[in-house]
Amino acid sequence: MTSSSAVRGAEIGVIGGSGFYSFLDDIEEVHVDTPYGPPSDPIAIGELAGRRVAFVPRHGRDHRFPPHRIPYRANLWALRSLGVRRVLAPSAVGSLTPAHGPGTLALPDQLVDRTSGREQTYYDAGAAVHVSFADPYCPSLRATAAASARATGWDPVDTGTLVIIEGPRFSTRAESRWFAAQGWTLVGMTGHPEAVLARELALCYAPLCLVTDLDAGIEEGAGVTHQEVLEVFGQNIGRLRELLTDVVKDLPANRTCPCPNVLDGLHLPLTLP
Ligand code: ADE
Repeated sequence: MTSSSAVRGAEIGVIGGSGFYSFLDDIEEVHVDTPYGPPSDPIAIGELAGRRVAFVPRHGRDHRFPPHRIPYRANLWALRSLGVRRVLAPSAVGSLTPAHGPGTLALPDQLVDRTSGREQTYYDAGAAVHVSFADPYCPSLRATAAASARATGWDPVDTGTLVIIEGPRFSTRAESRWFAAQGWTLVGMTGHPEAVLARELALCYAPLCLVTDLDAGIEEGAGVTHQEVLEVFGQNIGRLRELLTDVVKDLPANRTCPCPNVLDGLHLPLTLP
């Protein structure tokens, strides 16, 4: 393992489950420290489709961080300090739409934050910084992801609203029915504050959501179980890895989206890495 000062960086970041380690070639593991503590684990940097990619196992290699304890600020800061400017974020989600069952690939375009008590900003002292977040995800990353998925025959649901709950428990049927009645289409536990922290660092960010279950208010059975989520995720990890490889390959060389400029004109109380 190497400390971050001696390392060749990366341009693209992936934050995902530990099942993604094997998609990179020539991996170097890098210890990065940040003002927010260490990231979930050392960051694996390697080559994918001819590009430099950095991977953070969101929950830690041994899955020791539950969703509400993930060091989100450290993870995004560490990626940026390694040169990353675009972040792809695969995750397991529940579906609030009967027609979009397990195995569906979803690329939401909105989120609703129902978490509580998570550290969700870098700008909590020294100056008031209010980033725009009307459209929380990078339009260019989303478009590339949708096109890459279609090209492989895995037609994505390419709009929708992801509600992020505090967890770690799953939702009750009443909560789940209420989410669906609001028009929200997916439910997960890790999409916030990951997306807003990426925005606060002027990074491109897009979630790649794999539906592992119909949430409790939608299905008729016993409710969602952790076992079911792990099983369905495991069955689809190969497909998701292939999709990530395609997206990395297909990303345009330069960022032409609004993301690099979101901090223009704002008075930042800290220097970004
Ligand atoms: N992750 C996977 N399935 C989920 C669900 N039904 N609710 C919240 N997070 C999930």
